[in-house]
Amino acid sequence: MSETGKETLRIRDMTIDDFPEVFHIGEEVFTAESFQSLYRTWDEFEITTLFNSDTELCLVAEAGGKILGFILGTTVTKHNSPWKYGYLVWLGVRKDIQQGGVGSGLFKEIKHRMKEQGVRMMIIDTSADNLPAVRFFEKQGFGDVQEHVYMSLNLTRKSRKKPVKKA
Ligand SMILES: CC(C)(COP(=O)(O)OP(=O)(O)OC[C@H]1O[C@@H](n2cnc3c(N)ncnc32)[C@H](O)[C@@H]1OP(=O)(O)O)[C@@H](O)C(=O)NCCC(=O)NCCS
Repeated sequence: MSETGKETLRIRDMTIDDFPEVFHIGEEVFTAESFQSLYRTWDEFEITTLFNSDTELCLVAEAGGKILGFILGTTVTKHNSPWKYGYLVWLGVRKDIQQGGVGSGLFKEIKHRMKEQGVRMMIIDTSADNLPAVRFFEKQGFGDVQEHVYMSLNLTRKSRKKPVKKA
């Protein structure tokens, strides 16, 4: 436990009662500017789905009865691989108290829990221009950055066939 202002910071399991507060913190921090990827969308189903599948990996940071941040994770076992991966899906800290150690506290606890569940490697993903998050994960020891290309094809646009050149 550590001190944030006057209140003691407590990292604990997320409960159903925390859903609305967690959802609103996510709405505040996962903005369209910082999370433009189409395949990741913050909505209430993210919380309920991860809570149902990995309750032990859904944590909140609380001080003085107020939720300051949350972390939601899951584990993945790949076919033909003996390794169990810990995927950190969402991590968010209220804007007004960022850089106060809350994210580190949440990360430390989920890392501990994942290790206990037999995880051998943790993975995260975030947009390349989300520098606070990149710096944060580097500080936690993450490395081996791999670039990934997303491409899109708009199916509502009519494709134009090239005119056939006459000889
Ligand atoms: C990323 C995030 C969770 C970090 O939480 P936090 O409570 O602010 O982080 P901490 O205070 O524990 O910071 C730990 C370290 O991370 C780095 N860091 C955190 N915020 C940073 C920032 N804005 N700029 C640069 N480095 C930063 C620093 O190295 C810091 O160590 P220091 O305090 O010794 O300098 C928080 O900024 C956030 O909610 N961002 C929006 C959502 C997001 O991008 N989530 C991650 C992807 S799901």
